[in-house]
Amino acid sequence: MSDFDFFSEKFRTDPHAEYDRMRNECPVAHSTEPYDWYAVTREVDVKQMIRKPKLWSSKHGPGLAFAGGSVLVSVDPPQHTSDRRLVQEAFNAETLTALEPDIRQLISDEIDSFVQRGEGDLQELLGMPVPLIVIAWLLGLDENYCREIRPRADSVIARHADAQSADPGNRDPDRADEMVYFAEMIAKRRQMIVDGEDLPDDTLTALITAELDGRVLTDTDVLGFMGFLFIAGSQTTTQMIGNMVWRLLQNPEQMALVQNDRSLIPSVVEESLRYDSPVHGLFRTNNEETEIDGVKLPVDSKVMCSFFAANMDPEAWDDPHKFDITRDLDSLKKHWAFGKGIHLCMGAPLSRIEGAVALELILDRLPNLRLTGEPTMISAPVLHGVETLPVAWDVPVGK
Ligand code: HEM
Repeated sequence: MSDFDFFSEKFRTDPHAEYDRMRNECPVAHSTEPYDWYAVTREVDVKQMIRKPKLWSSKHGPGLAFAGGSVLVSVDPPQHTSDRRLVQEAFNAETLTALEPDIRQLISDEIDSFVQRGEGDLQELLGMPVPLIVIAWLLGLDENYCREIRPRADSVIARHADAQSADPGNRDPDRADEMVYFAEMIAKRRQMIVDGEDLPDDTLTALITAELDGRVLTDTDVLGFMGFLFIAGSQTTTQMIGNMVWRLLQNPEQMALVQNDRSLIPSVVEESLRYDSPVHGLFRTNNEETEIDGVKLPVDSKVMCSFFAANMDPEAWDDPHKFDITRDLDSLKKHWAFGKGIHLCMGAPLSRIEGAVALELILDRLPNLRLTGEPTMISAPVLHGVETLPVAWDVPVGK
């Protein structure tokens, strides 16, 4: 087996090379930090794991810690099936498509607010606020509060990658604030029901009033949904926006292609997701002893399905390390950035809209965009991408 240290600088700065090394040495890699765990790096193995949720359970959480929330990404069927049905309404194609004009307006307003500056950190200015505000709309949260608390990179998913986080004493106090705020929101809505007031039409109301197969959600359940959706829906999309623009700036010939042909925007979004998966991978735990590529995995092994590595597998992709927005779009959409199978990302259509509109308006409104320094990379273990993206652009004359 090949050994690796997932928390090393290599993964933060150049995961492409590190995953290749691991896949070439042995497709099931092994780490001992902080205890024995594994990562599968071939696409075919990732696929096998995702297809067998009975064997490869999510009940111990999507991260390295034997912990997790109580909803969606941390549960197995049948609870998982009913969890998805509970939030499906908020994520159906019609609801999300209807959000597009508001998202366009939001991005345009954000650009208005900084365009005259001519330079800045694009992640701070746009990549961070946009997904945060969109998720605030969905959950019925106060936009300004969300801007203030800005979930840091140590998201729920990321924190779960750290086995230490299973210890409640290690909880991030700022995040606890966030949960207190969510709990207040839930209490307010419950009071509105008691007072006979009309409830806003959003996901929070849907969760509070949901009744499915005789199951009504407790406050703890609703809190679990809110905490997960808030983080899952914001930081990942922030990464995607930053990574996408970064790669175009690094590859001026690809930038020129999309500047001249905006119909390539969806391909930029998908190629960015393939090339720079914002989530390295998520974990499963085997319910019985099993074997992958001849490697024996004792029952209850933590194994990371490496979506990033699957997207770089030369068995699955031609010239995988080439950032190429002219790849066939239908084939590109088969990337693993959103996972697959029963836990397939529910927010994927929303992120795609946010990414496409953001890129379109960046191309239109920030002419001659250029890097002014080296971006810094995010340090949260499970996430990948740029944390800061220092850029400059030509300020529009006469405005
Ligand atoms: C580029 C942005 C995003 C990326 C890369 C991403 C990635 C992922 C991945 C890899 C999974 C699969 C988890 C697994 O297999 O264990 C997932 C699940 C999920 N994502 Fe996303 N996500 C993104 C944006 C969003 C957004 C915007 C939302 C909501 C607003 C969202 C909501 C969810 C939900 C609810 C699940 C859980 C599905 C389940 O367990 O059944 N995601 N996401």
